[in-house]
Amino acid sequence: MKKIFFLPALAIIGFLFFQGITKPEPKTEFISHEIAPDMPPQVKAIVEQKCYGCHNAESKNEKGKKKLDWDAFEASKRAKQIAAKGKILEVLENGDMPPAKFLENKPEGKLTEEEVATLMAWSKSKKN
Ligand code: HEC
Repeated sequence: MKKIFFLPALAIIGFLFFQGITKPEPKTEFISHEIAPDMPPQVKAIVEQKCYGCHNAESKNEKGKKKLDWDAFEASKRAKQIAAKGKILEVLENGDMPPAKFLENKPEGKLTEEEVATLMAWSKSKKN
């Protein structure tokens, strides 16, 4: 009789153990993804590190996601991309992104001057 209970218990323990070892790592702020394959690699690297965390399709930052979703960027129509680049240039010129409030807790998220220049040149260019 005891054996009947033993097996399901073993199965449950096994399942829990399996779950424990396969549980995905908690999502970090700036997770790297395959975004916009046609974007210049140096631009992509900056975006992935400093912008993508808030501006992606699964972002919990609803406001940020609504304003700019990098996952949708490349698939979107030319006119939409140009409009997005215009907005990006604007926030860069004003030093608005990443948001100052966010940088208070995460100063390493700040764009360096070089990164600003790279992103600006890209957002002004006609090419993706
Ligand atoms: C900590 C989260 C966060 C990070 C990091 C971040 N943003 Fe944002 N972004 C937001 C939020 C929130 C908004 C919406 C602001 C609002 O509506 O007031 C926004 C808005 C924007 C907008 C739209 C502005 C407008 O007025 O339409 C652009 C463009 C933008 N971000 C670009 C960037 C770029 C480029 C980077 C990387 C250098 C970046 N963001 C990094 C949170 C973030």
